Amino acid sequence: MRTHLIVGNWKMHKTAEATVAFIDDFLQSLHATSTEIDIALAPPFTALGAAADRLREHMRVGLAAQDMHWEEQGAFTGAIAPGMLVEFGVSHVIVGHSERRRSFGETDEMVNKKVKAALAHDLTPIVCVGEPLSVRDGGGAQAHIVTQTHAAFAGVPAHRIAHCVIAYEPIWAIGTGKNCDVNEANAAMASIREGVPGASHATMLYGGSVTPQNMREYARQPHVDGALVGGASLDPVSFFDLIRAAHEGFSGQ
Ligand code: 13P
Repeated sequence: MRTHLIVGNWKMHKTAEATVAFIDDFLQSLHATSTEIDIALAPPFTALGAAADRLREHMRVGLAAQDMHWEEQGAFTGAIAPGMLVEFGVSHVIVGHSERRRSFGETDEMVNKKVKAALAHDLTPIVCVGEPLSVRDGGGAQAHIVTQTHAAFAGVPAHRIAHCVIAYEPIWAIGTGKNCDVNEANAAMASIREGVPGASHATMLYGGSVTPQNMREYARQPHVDGALVGGASLDPVSFFDLIRAAHEGFSGQ
């Protein structure tokens, strides 16, 4: 179901110690405001325990993982199982990020297995889709992301898709400072809502060079429910400013 959600994806940044320092600073700012926006942090696996301890008392900030394996357990050196995340109180898991597709060979089929495993463990998957620049330049962006979304949710009933999070992250916009035009992002997300049963009710995030400066315009778009934020989520002041900007956008300011 559609809710306002901002997720900080820290990627391979921050030790457990740095995570605690961030959370302490961030919560101080957050205490001073009231916003209905759900917030989640996705630190590296090694910092999930420290983050969980720090966030225990703070219902407004949830914990997300950056990835997981789909199996319960087994001979998968280096992998993390869904139950291991649940043990830390993780509520969301990022699945199919383009960096994992590119650097770790993740396929649509693997993404689909992860989505199903997440749902089986009551973890909310944040399913990432997005087109490379070559596809965009060829005019095939919307077809590409609708196909990717279909593949990610193959075999998942529409009423369950409605409870998932879908992040539209054009690959060329990630970490480049070249954020997608807000109207184009909105149109891309509309195409997913129209093209995939259940997605019309899913929470949909934009990701790719989101900053405190451009967040407000995204939040004003009808199909945008929030953001998946990389670089601008690493500093507590910048992340807080971004949430404040989202709050303004969502409330029509
Ligand atoms: P940036 O916000 O650093 O562009 O990263 C976006 C992203 O990949 C979030 O998952």
